[in-house]
Amino acid sequence: MIAMIRPILIHPDPRLKKVCAPVDDLSDELRALADDMLETMYDAPGIGLAAPQVGQLTRLIALDCVKEEGETPRPLIMFNPEIIASSEETNVYEEGCLSIPEQYAEVTRPNAVDVRWIDRDGNEQHETFDGLWATCVQHEIDHLNGKLFIDYIGAMKRQMITRKMQKLKREKARV
Ligand code: NI
Repeated sequence: MIAMIRPILIHPDPRLKKVCAPVDDLSDELRALADDMLETMYDAPGIGLAAPQVGQLTRLIALDCVKEEGETPRPLIMFNPEIIASSEETNVYEEGCLSIPEQYAEVTRPNAVDVRWIDRDGNEQHETFDGLWATCVQHEIDHLNGKLFIDYIGAMKRQMITRKMQKLKREKARV
């Protein structure tokens, strides 16, 4: 089966504010969605994508934080990802989001997280992530709970970004 690039929802959209439903049966349809999400993420290009960003309110994320040219990619698909422990030590990254194009803000998050998930083959996985991977996986899991990175920043900047996005959507709708 050939993976398909799906349209990415742009904030503000009510589907980006929903708590997504857990997966209890890993179907071929869900695997196809996961493959499409990786394809869509690489095409964007981005390092992470959550199912609600393509309009599917399912607990599924895709990520690959290998950014260096020539390094082996590491595509990860996570169904029902859960943070089971977080470090006290924090890290600040300038975050962006494919649903909030060209807008960035510094967000403070735990520097390392233990994550448990179900992989594409239905096996339970567990790994500790740190640095950019930790930030990315936390950002993507937030999407499954209707939370965006702009929810961590000041109200003024958030409103400014939201207005920019509303304008961008109006412009897109016109063409
Ligand atoms: Ni995002």
